[in-house]
Amino acid sequence: MRRPHPNSMNNPTLETIFRRRSIRRYTDQPVEPEKLDLLMQAAMAAPSAMNCKPWEFVVVTDPEKLAQFRKRLVFGNRNAPAAIVICGNPRLSPNPAARLFWQQDCSLAAQNILIAATSLGLGTVWIGVHPVAEFVHVVRDVVSLPRHVIPLALIYVGYPAETKSSRTQYDATRVHRDKYSKK
Ligand SMILES: Cc1cc2nc3c(=O)[nH]c(=O)nc-3n(C[C@H](O)[C@H](O)[C@H](O)COP(=O)(O)O)c2cc1C
Repeated sequence: MRRPHPNSMNNPTLETIFRRRSIRRYTDQPVEPEKLDLLMQAAMAAPSAMNCKPWEFVVVTDPEKLAQFRKRLVFGNRNAPAAIVICGNPRLSPNPAARLFWQQDCSLAAQNILIAATSLGLGTVWIGVHPVAEFVHVVRDVVSLPRHVIPLALIYVGYPAETKSSRTQYDATRVHRDKYSKK
């Protein structure tokens, strides 16, 4: 049985936020297509600068492509049955000022995926891609991205084969009240 996190005040949203952990071992169970669709719904509920939504997503379940990620991404050797490539496409953002915020916009969509997946009993891990040129090249190549579409991150998704404890990493010294103070 899952124990509520001591700081969650029985709030199910906080529970899910505290329960989200990076999962790096997965069972063979495929992720239901409906759940992958729900993750896309969650992603696109995220806020974005001037609501420009400069994101696109590549949902990958092809075992050959997943094997390529495992082999070619040095920090991405994980056995998940699905992956989502989070992409920024500046051409989707008509406003030049808003375009500058594509990484924040796409990161918020990604975080929505991580939290939604946790709530659906799935595990995830963010694999960093942008701004490492070599990782960008690999991901572009595996999923055939055009030059102007930038892969920000790869998120592996699957059913967890490891358990991790729910937690916050709260640190009072990182919080300043009204003005920045040396502690
Ligand atoms: C920008 C970013 C890049 C990351 N890159 C990787 C990665 O390449 N491989 C990996 O296994 N985890 C990666 N992670 C996951 C972090 O290692 C993980 O979030 C951190 O250790 C905290 O653990 P937790 O997610 O369980 O809370 C990345 C996370 C972020 C936000």
